[in-house]
Amino acid sequence: MAPRSGSASDSVPPPLHVVILAAGQGTRMRSVLPKVLHAIAGRPMLEHVLQTAQALGAACCHVVVGHGAETLRAWLVGSHAAATDLEVVVQSKQLGTAHAVLQAMPQIPEDARVLVLYGDVPLIQADTLRDLLQLDVRGLGILSAQAHDPHGYGRIVRGAGGAVRSIVEEKDATEAQRRIQEINTGVVLAPARRLRDWLRRVDDNNAKREFYLTDIVRLAVRDRVAVRTVQAESLEEVQGVNDRAQLAALERAWQRREALAMMRQGVGIRDPERFDLRGSLLCGQDVHLDVGVVIEGEVELGDHVHIGPYTVLRNVRIGAGTHVESHCVLDTAVIGRACRIGPFARLRPEAHLADQVHVGNFVEIKKSSLGQGSKANHLAYLGDARIGSGVNIGAGVITCNYDGVNKHPTVIGDGAFIGTDTQLIAPVTIGAGAYIAAGSSIAMDAPAGQLTICRAREQHSLPGWKRPQKKA
Ligand code: UD1
Ligand code: CA
Repeated sequence: MAPRSGSASDSVPPPLHVVILAAGQGTRMRSVLPKVLHAIAGRPMLEHVLQTAQALGAACCHVVVGHGAETLRAWLVGSHAAATDLEVVVQSKQLGTAHAVLQAMPQIPEDARVLVLYGDVPLIQADTLRDLLQLDVRGLGILSAQAHDPHGYGRIVRGAGGAVRSIVEEKDATEAQRRIQEINTGVVLAPARRLRDWLRRVDDNNAKREFYLTDIVRLAVRDRVAVRTVQAESLEEVQGVNDRAQLAALERAWQRREALAMMRQGVGIRDPERFDLRGSLLCGQDVHLDVGVVIEGEVELGDHVHIGPYTVLRNVRIGAGTHVESHCVLDTAVIGRACRIGPFARLRPEAHLADQVHVGNFVEIKKSSLGQGSKANHLAYLGDARIGSGVNIGAGVITCNYDGVNKHPTVIGDGAFIGTDTQLIAPVTIGAGAYIAAGSSIAMDAPAGQLTICRAREQHSLPGWKRPQKKA
């Protein structure tokens, strides 16, 4: 290895260690689930924070857990929420934010930079934190924000020259300090060596008898270490969640942000206030989403796809020009081009529709394929079926795929016509171009190109029959 020359400042940047505080109880959620596992956009709040830390290139995330520690540990181990190294640190008594960070320090190298984030502040943006990381590596960085109503937050106290002198908590603040509108978001960046020393010196001599992380500001000033602030652009991104109302407010904020970003990329969203993305959405050109569309998992929509109101799309791929009408639930399905789906259609896992397929109201399709141009326009159940192209499935057709123990396949050849209210008792094969008469119960294979009929032959009428009368 070549010998390194120059001072420490022009060598490799110090590794970034992120401490995520998540030990609090979250009493006001009134939930058995630890607060940070409550979801925003379908993913736990903690996962959002871990992903942000990862985007910053963190060498390691240290998650401080306390209440619900075992549930959180199990989730952290199982989730692969972050590709970075993960350390779970237990803080068995919640003695304050400084005490919480101190628990993580034994695992953090002396030369690291430590960024403190909060598991219940899910919308924090990597870009904002990057501004903080631009500050001098030797100083103490604080992320602040301007709050119209600063109630409940720690206030940033500045001296005559504007330099930060301290942070005071609401409960410890004087009347004049309470009027300060620059608040502490809680996010702090400090060199590990300094931080360790400061954390050890913090005491609990305050209104809450807690070890306040914010007290390190006073200690830094005393040690003549530069304290700098970066202001977050919006209060929204630094807001914490304490109850379900705040969770819902941040969910909407997240959705609004996502919807606006997608609209800028050309996706037509009828109402960004009624859009819900809980996964990833890839769109071609001129895609239109009506109100109340819910996207879950990985969804891909081709050019000119229209999705009607109140439709749920979960792990689906939809080809160009397909229209999905209102109130459909499409789950783990692949849909071709120029199809017409719904209203009120349900596609279950492994439904495969080729191009120009029509699926109408109250049609359920599971583990079945429909070939090009086939139609099932009303009231049908198609399960474990392989259906060719140009097939017409009449109203009320049911594949009887389940004998109570096993599932059996139905095969329908190209161009077949299945009359209304037909039961196809699987396993059964219908030949190409076969014509099944309405109301048939088909338990044997039907030959190609022929009419097959299987129902009571005679129709009786009783002359002179009288309707029953109500007793007097
Ligand atoms: C803290 C800040 C305050 C800031 C506000 C921003 C302190 C002393 N005050 O106040 O200046 O304006 O955040 O929201 O830091 N936690 C632990 N272990 C503990 C205590 C807390 O893990 O022993 C976690 C909590 O789960 C929570 C976070 O740290 O996620 C913040 O703690 P909280 O008690 O809510 O601090 P605030 O009083 O809101
Ligand atoms: Ca709080």
